[in-house]
This record gives sequence, structure tokens and C-alpha cells, in this order.
Amino acid sequence: MNDKTNKPAYFSLHDIHSYYGESYIVQGVSFNVHEGEILALLGRNGAGKTSTLRSIAQIGDPLVTQGECWLDHQALHDMESFEAARAGVALVPEDRRIIQGLTVQENLELAQIAPPHGWSIERIYDLFPRLGERKNQEGTTLSGGEQQMLAIGRALARDIKLLLLDEPYEGLAPVIVQEIERTLRQIKELGITTIIVEQNAVAALKLADRAVILDTGLVVFDGTAQEVLDNEALREEYLAI
Ligand SMILES: Nc1ncnc2c1ncn2[C@@H]1O[C@H](COP(=O)(O)OP(=O)(O)O)[C@@H](O)[C@H]1O
Ligand SMILES: [Mg+2]
Repeated sequence: MNDKTNKPAYFSLHDIHSYYGESYIVQGVSFNVHEGEILALLGRNGAGKTSTLRSIAQIGDPLVTQGECWLDHQALHDMESFEAARAGVALVPEDRRIIQGLTVQENLELAQIAPPHGWSIERIYDLFPRLGERKNQEGTTLSGGEQQMLAIGRALARDIKLLLLDEPYEGLAPVIVQEIERTLRQIKELGITTIIVEQNAVAALKLADRAVILDTGLVVFDGTAQEVLDNEALREEYLAI
């Protein structure tokens, strides 16, 4: 935030409330993310992290969201999910959603079927050489780590402004986590703004510039990633680490 010009943050959530039917899940969440920054969105299971990501990506049905969500001067809250995607939001969901029956290459080509186009497939293979080596293999037969790479690659195949990662390290061996961490650092160097939700909070905090911690749908911490790493009481209370 540049206070002198009152320029809004690149990305901001303002007083987001969301519901699954009668269940009130996200209870007035606000935070900003600056351009090119990685924000770790943390909190225990059921804290509302996935619901917050879905609210940002405007994925309703059955989630109903109120509040404002801005990305680079665009009002995401007035959009449908496909319009938010076109405006530059890419959600890589926890289950990765690799399309069955399609090869690695076809999964990437499908992501590029509609503009705005992002990275070329060759460039995605440069970032993830394992995908290039397996380009003719069916996507759903890849290892968990390779499927995560494909899911991230598919996001980059579109021209994105905000990358939302929901538990990208889940179920992956430490050596694969390190490989994905390396690529996320490279993606950051290219200036892509990222929100990462992760149960492996230490790994997420090492990668992130800033952190927001949710507890039962409320923001209980908003500060630098280093502050969380340094604050044992905070980690014990909300992250159980
Ligand atoms: N489709 C759904 N229908 C009803 N309740 C849901 C649904 N998805 C999630 N919830 C509930 O919303 C709460 C927050 O879930 P979620 O956002 O997935 O948390 P987190 O990602 O932090 O673990 C949980 O209590 C969960 O049971
Ligand atoms: Mg979740």
C-alpha cells in the first residue's frame, strides 16, 4: 500500500463472509497481498482456508460469499468463476483435477484453448523438465509430485495475475516438496503474486513473505512470515507446530 497516493493493494479481500447453507464459515476476513509477493494462508484443519480460496476464485455452488475482492483494480466479487479466471485468478485445488484420458501435453494444451494465453508449453517444460520427459504419458498416471507440477503448469499456461495453491505439498515426499519449492521461487522471481495454503506451515513460511492465520473463519494474525517463525506461542496455538 502506497499511503501517499492511496493506491489500493494489488490484491485485497475486504470483509469476506461465506456460507455453506446454514453454516457460517468465513466470518469477515480482510487482508491484502502486494504485487509479486507470496502470502501463506495458514490455520488448522477446518479454519476456512479452502473456503477463502474458493471465495477469491468466485467458486460458488454451494458456497455463498459476501464482501469485496479486488485484483489489480478489477472487482472479482462481481464476476462468475470463469470471468475471475479470465481476469487472472488461477486456483490449483487440493485434488489437482488432472483430466483423465489426456496426456500431460494434452492437459496443457487444453488450458491454452481460450485466451488470455500465458506461458508456452516449451517454457513450462523448461520449468518442470519431468513433465517434458513424460509429455505423452496419461496425466492421471503421474506420481503425486508430477501431478502437482502439471496442475501448476496448467495454471501458468494461462496469463495469470494471482496463483492460489491449496495444499500443494500434501502427500509428497520431502525431496519432491523441495523441488516444487524451487519452482515456486522461480515463479515468484517472475513477479507472479501467490497465495499458498499449506498444512506444512514451516515449508510455506520459508517460502512466503507474509502470513495470514485463520482460526474458525477469522483472521487472528497478519504479519511477516518471519514473525510467525519467531513466535512459538502463536505457532503452538494456531498451527500446532
Ligand atoms: N461443501 C461443504 N458443505 C458444507 N460444509 C463445508 C463444505 N466444505 C467445507 N465445509 C466446512 O467448512 C469449514 C471450513 O472448511 P475449509 O474451508 O475446507 O477449511 P480448511 O481448508 O481450512 O481446512 C469446515 O467446518 C468444513 O466442514
Ligand atoms: Mg482446505
